[in-house]
Amino acid sequence: MKSVFLTTFGCQMNKADSELSLGLLLERGYRLAGDESAADVVLFNTCSVRQRAEDRVYSRLSQLKARKTRRPDLVIGVLGCVAQKEGEEIFRRYPHVDMVCGTRMFDKLPELLERLGSNGGHLLAVSDEKVVSYPRRRPPRENPHQAYITVMRGCDNYCSYCIVPHVRGPEISRTVEEIVEEAQSLVNEGCKEITLLGQNINTYGKTLEKGTNLATLLRAVSKVEGLERIRFVTSHPKDMTIEVLEAMAELPRVCKHLHMPAQSGSDRILEGMERGHTAQHYLELIRLARKLVPDIAIASDFIVGFPGETEEDFEATVRLMEAARFQNSYVFKYSPRPGTKASELLDNVPLELKKERNQRLLDVQSHISLEENKKRVGQIVEVLVEGPSKSNKKRLTGRTPQNQIVVFEGPSTIKGELVKVKIEEVTSLTLFGRLVA
Ligand code: SAH
Ligand code: SF4
Ligand code: F3S
Repeated sequence: MKSVFLTTFGCQMNKADSELSLGLLLERGYRLAGDESAADVVLFNTCSVRQRAEDRVYSRLSQLKARKTRRPDLVIGVLGCVAQKEGEEIFRRYPHVDMVCGTRMFDKLPELLERLGSNGGHLLAVSDEKVVSYPRRRPPRENPHQAYITVMRGCDNYCSYCIVPHVRGPEISRTVEEIVEEAQSLVNEGCKEITLLGQNINTYGKTLEKGTNLATLLRAVSKVEGLERIRFVTSHPKDMTIEVLEAMAELPRVCKHLHMPAQSGSDRILEGMERGHTAQHYLELIRLARKLVPDIAIASDFIVGFPGETEEDFEATVRLMEAARFQNSYVFKYSPRPGTKASELLDNVPLELKKERNQRLLDVQSHISLEENKKRVGQIVEVLVEGPSKSNKKRLTGRTPQNQIVVFEGPSTIKGELVKVKIEEVTSLTLFGRLVA
């Protein structure tokens, strides 16, 4: 029985794909290795969204070279977005890699490994075929109370900086029926919270029958017996609809949390990014969201140092962040991705300035997060218990429907339960409280 170890880089979509891949391999008789050095098959599910994400994969591949020389029957496989993007090139740079498997071949993984056998070699499996559904066997999960369901694949947006549409292909949605069935089977196994995944989830249903959209999907999944919480990511401001906000307001199981990246607060930069929205449209949208869905939390992503970003553009981003009062924001330094439209523009903001703007934006956000979190002191919040806190194993951690992290004391037996916690103290990232009966 061969053992396998898979490391995942990148977004939730990749985590979900990794689960599916491992599920398939376990079914074929593989077992999970405790760590990479003990595995017969070492796999990487990779991300190419920024150069740094790719470099992390390359450095791990370099590290494995000596081991492969000592143990030629070791199988090394590169899966996912970097595999799709680089293909053959990976074999040229890292001849000790045996298999490169793109973003649309996960379901073939057991056959591919079989074909490789113990002789190794260079097996390239990259296709442009449209595949929407994969078998949904899952390996035993560390936290069976939470799960991802990929509801659509690919992206049609082609934001000018972004590699995702190039490596994930055109957008295609799974049927409501199939998603509901998967949700039900997860709930039957003890799942309480499901996160629906799509790169641009607001256009869910575009490739399906007319009238099928994210709002109808949320309503359908809400009917799954026993499911306590539903989340969905990622929202795109240009495709967000009133129907979705109304569904959020109306359906108690849908968490009042929106991850809706603004990317920039400067209309000039937003145009260069080909985002299809302005700063004003964005702010109006979140005003509407807050009106229709009381207590909604909004999170954003930002890119600093996009080609041509001036101090003035950056100030506009700071202003948007201050006006929007996000619960939290992820900030990224622009990284040119070969093959994207923006990569043809001069990457003219120096790295030092990108770093500085990145930090300034994080500081502004941190200040807002702290102020917003302080408003929670004294409130009783609902928490889905995830397990022991990383920083202090004696305490438990979980999340509110708004996706805030809560740390509190309690018995480990309540993992996976929904409990009430009274908030007593806060930082910009965490709420601390005490269990209430
Ligand atoms: N589909 C999602 C996630 C895309 S990738 C969405 O549209 O929001 C996650 C984040 O990475 C993006 O929101 C963006 O902020 C950032 N990102 C994407 N490409 C990038 C690049 N070339 N350089 C820096 N950040 C990037
Ligand atoms: Fe990339 Fe834009 Fe698609 Fe998100 S919506 S994956 S940022 S192209
Ligand atoms: Fe990265 Fe691919 Fe996700 S590029 S962000 S792992 S879709």
